[in-house]
Amino acid sequence: MSRFPEGFLWGGATAANQFEGGFSEGGKGVNSSDCTTRGSRTKPRMVTYKTKDGEVKAVPMFGMNVTEDVEYGCFEGYDYPSHDGIDFYHRYKEDIALFGEMGFKTFRLSINWARIFPTGMEETPNEEGLKFYDDVFDECAKYGIKPLVTLSHYETPIGLANAWGSWTDARTIECFCRYVKTVGERYKGKVEYWLTFNEINIAGMSPWMSSGVGANNPQVVADISKHQLIASAKAVQILHEIDPNNKVGNMVAYGAVYPYTCHPNDVIASKQKAHDTHFYFDVQARGYYPSYKLKEYEREGVSFSLTDEEKETLKNGTVDFLSFSYYMSSVVSTDPEVLGKKAEGNMGLGGVPNPYLKASDWGWQIDPTGLRIALNELWERYQKPLFIVENGMGAQDVLEADKTCHDDYHIDYLRDHIKAMADAINIDGVELWGYTPWGCIDLVSASTGEMHKRYGFIYVDYQDDGTGEGDRYRKDSFYWYKKVIASNGEDLD
Ligand code: BG6
Repeated sequence: MSRFPEGFLWGGATAANQFEGGFSEGGKGVNSSDCTTRGSRTKPRMVTYKTKDGEVKAVPMFGMNVTEDVEYGCFEGYDYPSHDGIDFYHRYKEDIALFGEMGFKTFRLSINWARIFPTGMEETPNEEGLKFYDDVFDECAKYGIKPLVTLSHYETPIGLANAWGSWTDARTIECFCRYVKTVGERYKGKVEYWLTFNEINIAGMSPWMSSGVGANNPQVVADISKHQLIASAKAVQILHEIDPNNKVGNMVAYGAVYPYTCHPNDVIASKQKAHDTHFYFDVQARGYYPSYKLKEYEREGVSFSLTDEEKETLKNGTVDFLSFSYYMSSVVSTDPEVLGKKAEGNMGLGGVPNPYLKASDWGWQIDPTGLRIALNELWERYQKPLFIVENGMGAQDVLEADKTCHDDYHIDYLRDHIKAMADAINIDGVELWGYTPWGCIDLVSASTGEMHKRYGFIYVDYQDDGTGEGDRYRKDSFYWYKKVIASNGEDLD
């Protein structure tokens, strides 16, 4: 008996802001991601804006808290990696052909909202933008690839940010719903799998990266989350009305949270930390705010309420399946001595280092068993089908003189995680629909803006110093993943 169910959706994942390019083409507007500069592991990405006095400023994206009234934008002298991405805008046929060659059953990509509604606020959509995705989805169909479309992946039209602080303001919900209705109707029959907000919980870590919001405090995060949770519930209903075949999922950055020791204080602290991510699943899967979140808001002095209509919306807009990105687990301690050691690089999840795990070159701790634990936790809590829509390891690949790339570390990482998935399915009985490893083709890193943090099966010859022609080359992992898909996960050697 095969370890993976028939029809299992093997594929790969990308996001418009990290690979599309075509910055000022086809009537596209400017996004929050377009105003974020290239960084590195040691140099932060910066967000650029103009003050009321006309002064251009740049502040680090992580930790930013801009409370004055400013105008976000792109300015001379800064290097913005989303503007070129890897030029999927022009090379999509070549890229999708490579995905087809690997045997992808699904391809996760996001629609660039500002390509459809340039400022986010228009009444009518931009036909050229709609046409672009028609072409992309038609190309996928040629290879039997089902698109898995994220509606909002780390980019918000800058028009909304400059008009009213984007997702801090409830008016953004209506703009988003107009966009969802537009793309839902347009791509009816072409797209069946949808995700509402990418890593909706990352608003708590970087409101700018996740939602195009420059300010950051508990009230701001609560407002963003409320508006996005309502917008997500409305999107589920809109897409179901348009086509009952539509399957709509949420998307959360998720990893198991371990207590550092069996001291009860560590255990309760780890459970409280897990609330940060369970909160979003709870609302999107169950349709109401959990008690621990309401208590947290009370403690923090966050003003929060829901009207009866909003409660109804959340109740009627629960998702069909739960999706998540999985890169690492995290560890929580209450011991001041242990707390002194921060898990460097554990993006978003934080915590202290796990002495049993190795980490990637960017400090992300590698834990395949944590994926099985995560799958079990979600399955036990919600009993809804699961979909792993991101997983992988950023690494410094080398393109050899003969244009080969020997990335056995990627193969090892993915093999171990696929084995953990198989165990979750076969030993634990988890229902898993699919697996789309992140950055199936090399693209720009979200946290650092670099090109040389590479995840892909396909090497893209663009370098951070602006050199390279963008040509695509199959890595060793390309041939390996092709075998994995062809054997439906049986041949992992
Ligand atoms: C997830 C995001 O957080 O992790 C992606 O959804 C991102 O957009 C991915 O690219 C990997 O992170 P990074 O920083 O290595 O690109």
